[in-house]
Amino acid sequence: MKRGLLKIFEPPLPLIHNPHEPRNFPLGRRNLYIGGANRRVPGYVNLDILLVPGVDIVADAEQMPFPSNLFTRVECDAVLEHVRHPERVISEIERVLARGGHAHLVTPFCHPFHEYPRDYRRFTLDGLKELARGRFEIAAEGWRTGPTATMLVFAIEYAKLWLPWRLWRALAHGVLGWLLFPLRYLDLFFVNSSRAGRIGNHCYLWLRKP
Ligand SMILES: C[S@@+](CC[C@H](N)C(=O)[O-])C[C@H]1O[C@@H](n2cnc3c(N)ncnc32)[C@H](O)[C@@H]1O
Repeated sequence: MKRGLLKIFEPPLPLIHNPHEPRNFPLGRRNLYIGGANRRVPGYVNLDILLVPGVDIVADAEQMPFPSNLFTRVECDAVLEHVRHPERVISEIERVLARGGHAHLVTPFCHPFHEYPRDYRRFTLDGLKELARGRFEIAAEGWRTGPTATMLVFAIEYAKLWLPWRLWRALAHGVLGWLLFPLRYLDLFFVNSSRAGRIGNHCYLWLRKP
């Protein structure tokens, strides 16, 4: 009951996803979702370093327990900032992906510190492309969440820094979240502009294994 009430007051996210980000790269018989703890990901094998609901295989993405060329599609969304060696994860994604298969990488650029279970780094779009260089063809690239998302997410986090008690922080999250969320639609003007990368929130790459 208490949880249900809290859910009703939970504000909408202070961000929108880029409506032009492609999503239609083909799925196959076997697909891999890296880092889907506490999530149901139908159609995918869900691999995570934590044993929590939704996870099928507990393993480190730097060393995956799969044979080579197994998966048609690999999702790696908001994970590379949490691993110790992102280049090893990219090399593993290349290994387990079948020829012609697609990998989807999403990483934060301007985003608050968040530990799952650690938080090591941020990526520009150029930095992300550099990780993939020489291994994959780039099928699509861009910003998933834009500069307005950055401003709103940081404004809410900043306000919470002033509040010593958890309940106050939860209240600030709710009140500011409801007040600020309409501004998120301003990102419709930015997410596809060349300026998005100056203070963009999360960038994406779709990669094809040749
Ligand atoms: C920010 S969450 C990603 C959530 C999900 N992809 C989404 O977008 O909702 C990061 C996830 O990566 C997992 N993770 C962190 N380090 C990992 C590693 N070395 N190998 C596999 N999973 C890892 C965390 O346990 C966590 O579930």
